[in-house]
Amino acid sequence: MTTEAPAAPGVHDAQQRFDAMIAADERIEPRDWMPDGYRRTLIRQIAQHAHSEIIGMQPEGNWITRAPSLKRKAVLIAKVQDEAGHGLYLYSAAETLGVSREELLDLLHEGRQRYSSIFNYPTLTWADVGAIGWLVDGAAITNQVPLCRCSYGPYARAMVRICKEESFHQRQGFDALYVLARGAEAQRRMAQDAVDRWYWPSLMMFGPPDTESAHSEQSMAWNIKRFSNDELRQRFVDIIVPQAEALGLTLPDPDIAWNAERGHYDFGTPDWDEFKQVLKGSGPCNRQRLEHRRKAHADGAWVREAAQAHAAKQAARRAAGDREAA
Ligand SMILES: [Fe+2]
Ligand SMILES: [Fe+2]
Repeated sequence: MTTEAPAAPGVHDAQQRFDAMIAADERIEPRDWMPDGYRRTLIRQIAQHAHSEIIGMQPEGNWITRAPSLKRKAVLIAKVQDEAGHGLYLYSAAETLGVSREELLDLLHEGRQRYSSIFNYPTLTWADVGAIGWLVDGAAITNQVPLCRCSYGPYARAMVRICKEESFHQRQGFDALYVLARGAEAQRRMAQDAVDRWYWPSLMMFGPPDTESAHSEQSMAWNIKRFSNDELRQRFVDIIVPQAEALGLTLPDPDIAWNAERGHYDFGTPDWDEFKQVLKGSGPCNRQRLEHRRKAHADGAWVREAAQAHAAKQAARRAAGDREAA
């Protein structure tokens, strides 16, 4: 007599189990059944996140050779390398959903998948490195801390480590601006100018207003997103207003005012037309960023080929060794 395995559960049962796991705030793992829409949403979001990490290396990489001291240079190199590492964790997390890193990179290079619009702005002075660390990494942390509780396990776990490193990035940016803001008048002006240029784009990093956000509602229902774009934007403004005061710099937003009734700072409305233009590809650096990325990928082909040839040789040697031992 043979024991029969229970019949494979139908999609209906699988959907019910998935819904129950989401309702209980459990983690979905790669082996679990998941609806196609959930998988597609995560692939899109994690890929966009991974692309942002590696494209984000460019604006700051621009200042490595011109960092004002050995210490600043070492810190900046470490930070840019961290961003490469973030890209790798995230591409690996996306691969658990059944896409390959090569596929995702092709989509990026063909302009068919996005990265954060913030990286299409230029870094004009050294102070921009400070402003990016303080505002851009700061906004990224605000966005990413809730993602540590995202319902998809591999993404949530990648975010835990990334957030620790992002806090260091934010601190180094704040510290660089703090020193400039207390330096010579020209340095103070340079710091203020950088904050003037990065403030509004950093607010746009949270995405369009809730009323216009296409994917938000479903992502919240799936426990991928925990807070809406506008909630996160508010949280970020509440954090940076006192920090700007500590820096002795002003945020270029005349509408910033404490609202005792709400218990939050009021603030102005970003230029959403500019946001849409940059998303569409008409930002100051869109072309340059993608061209540079494609070239870096092509220039690195020999490294990937060499690594694969080395891995194949090692595997062949191991196999030969196993045969001899047998
Ligand atoms: Fe990062
Ligand atoms: Fe970062």
